[in-house]
This record gives sequence, C-alpha cells and structure tokens, in this order.
Amino acid sequence: NTQIVSVDKNRPEGYKIKKAAEIIKTGGLVAFPTETVYGLGGNALDEHVAKKIYAAKGRPQDNPLIVHIHSLSQLDELVKEIPTRAAVLMDKFWPGPLTIIFHKKDIIPYSTTGGLDTVAIRMPAHSVALELIKESGVPIAAPSANISGRPSPACAEDVAEDLFGKIEMILDGGPTSVGVESTVLDLSEKVPIILRPGGVTKEDLEDVLGCVNLDPGLAPGEKPRSPGQKYRHYAPKAQMTVIEGCMENQVKTIQELTKQLESGGLKVGIMATAQTRHLYTRGYVISVGDRTAPLTISSNLFTILRKFDRLGVDRIFAEGISKDGIGLAVMNRLYKAAGYKILKV
Ligand code: TXA
Ligand code: MG
Repeated sequence: NTQIVSVDKNRPEGYKIKKAAEIIKTGGLVAFPTETVYGLGGNALDEHVAKKIYAAKGRPQDNPLIVHIHSLSQLDELVKEIPTRAAVLMDKFWPGPLTIIFHKKDIIPYSTTGGLDTVAIRMPAHSVALELIKESGVPIAAPSANISGRPSPACAEDVAEDLFGKIEMILDGGPTSVGVESTVLDLSEKVPIILRPGGVTKEDLEDVLGCVNLDPGLAPGEKPRSPGQKYRHYAPKAQMTVIEGCMENQVKTIQELTKQLESGGLKVGIMATAQTRHLYTRGYVISVGDRTAPLTISSNLFTILRKFDRLGVDRIFAEGISKDGIGLAVMNRLYKAAGYKILKV
C-alpha cells in the first residue's frame, strides 16, 4: 500500500524526509513535489529502479528519465563534461525549472537514460525535493508522477489518482507553483535547442544565450529530438480542440460549437479564462486563469484537464492564449493534450 505523508513545503519535517529517503535508498519509489509538477522518484544509479519506474507509469522504456540533484557537487560524478554555457545557465537558473542534457558517465545506467549516452539533469527549486535528494545520498530519477499519457500531476491528489497502490510513498507538499514541467535544453549544437518548452522561458534563455531555437520536431507530424515528445501526452479522456484567434472570435466559435454538440446530447467542457468565463451561457465552464498573469494558467492547467475527466464531459474546447513567456509551454501542452486538433478562427 501507498503511504501518503503530508509535509511542510517550506520546512519539511526531518523525520518524514528520512523515512522517504530510506525508501529511495532501499530501491523503492517515492512521489514528491517539485516547483513544476510532482515527480515519481527512485535511485537514478540503480538500473532495476528505473525499470520499476517505467512499470509504475506504464511508460515506454525508450523514454529517458530526468535525474534530479540537490547540489552542483553531485554533477561531476554523473557527467563527462560541463560546457561553459551549461555552467552559466546553472548559475542563473538552478535551482529551477531548467533541465540540461549532458554526456553521461558510466555510473548512470542505460535504463535511466532510455539507452542514450546523454542524461537530462536538473536541480529543482523545492525544499522537499532538495532535502529528499540530499538525505537519500543518491541522485533521484523522476519522471512526472502520472500514468503515461495522462496530464501531469500538480498536486498529491492527482498523483494518488494514478499511482496509489503502485508505489511506496507520496510526499504531499500541496499544489505546485509552476504547474507545467521544466524546460529541456540541448546544448550540443551551436545554437541551443529547446526540446520541451517549460518553466524557464525562451525569452529567459535568450537573455543569457543570445539565440535559442525551438526543436522543429515539436510541430505536428515532425520527428522530435527528445524521445518523450513523440508520445501522445497530457491527454484528458474527452476529445479536445484548441480554439485560436482573437478573444471575441474564440468565444463566439466555442459558443456555437457547444450549442451544436449539446443539442446532439453531448456534455461539453469549456476551458475559459478569467477574461471570458462570464461570456458563456452553455457548457461546463472552468476558468484556467488570468491571461494577464499566465503563471495562474500554467499552474492550473493539468488539474483542470483532470477535472473535466471527473465531470465526465464528452468534448472539451480550450481557448488558446499568447505564446509569450510561459504561454509557449502552456500552448505546447494544450496542443499535445488535443492531439494537435487546432481550430483557427
Ligand atoms: O519538471 C519536470 O521536468 C518534471 C519534474 C518531476 O522534475 N519531470 C518530468 O519528467 O517532466 P518526464 O520524464 O515526464 O519528462 C522528461 C523529458 C521527456 O520529454 C524526455 O524525453 C526528455 O525529458 N529527456 C530526458 N532525457 C533526455 C535526453 N537524454 N535527451 C533528450 N531528451 C531527454
Ligand atoms: Mg511526463
């Protein structure tokens, strides 16, 4: 059975962290909060543990895991070299929602990296995560703590919904703040490539690096450089469509489509925003957040996708938002959740 242990997210109780660390040390799995989403953690240096993680998530084994560290002193043991650009980024954004790809040393098993010679590493900005890694004495491999293909968990309840009974412990540190996963960055080319947009924005990276490219493989039908991006992801059970265009057209279109579907007997969910929610007269309307404060949107996004599942809607319409800042990560997740069903109006 799975123990659920609530923990103070700012000053995690030492004895609770010790108990969780004991599980990690002995090859077990603990879900824990980070600033982005909850992770499903295990010893990154134990090849059997990686297999357990894949099994619990129902995740394909060629999809590599992110290795989490608590201090820069852990890095030398894990990677062959630290490029200058990486050092600058780590200095600026760690701890934080930025994952960097390095060449791995032999100590990291191929099961952790999905057979790759590279390893993705990040230092999360969350006391519970940092204390757990420190107390465990090993780097912690942790994918998002959801069943593969489902929306990532931004709170412990969403972890339990997917993984209760499959792992030893869930550390409950309350809802996460960023809500979407870390940015995954590849520094192997002259111009760095964002493999997955996330908590550290493209603009943030450009301030430090100058030019930064988005992996063209993120577009529908293209082959992504990051193995994880090729799978259908973040998907609610209902079929979802993203409606893009000016706000007035978005609302008008969603109103019309909802009316049509409801008259056909379907239950329709509408992912609206603070600016538009009051304009709808039909459907199950949930505001995902405020367009002028996109962090409110990213932090609610996955929880709301799961809410629509619980409501049992047949179809979901989601309003697209600006791709500036964290909006790029939000729109990437929405596109994937919708299986790239996008309607421009
Ligand atoms: O915010 C996050 O990053 C969360 C929290 C728990 O830290 N973790 C997370 O892990 O989102 P996961 O496993 O769900 O996503 C890892 C992503 C996948 O898209 C994977 O393909 C990519 O990182 N990745 C991992 N190792 C890689 C590598 N060596 N080369 C390219 N992409 C890699
Ligand atoms: Mg994931």
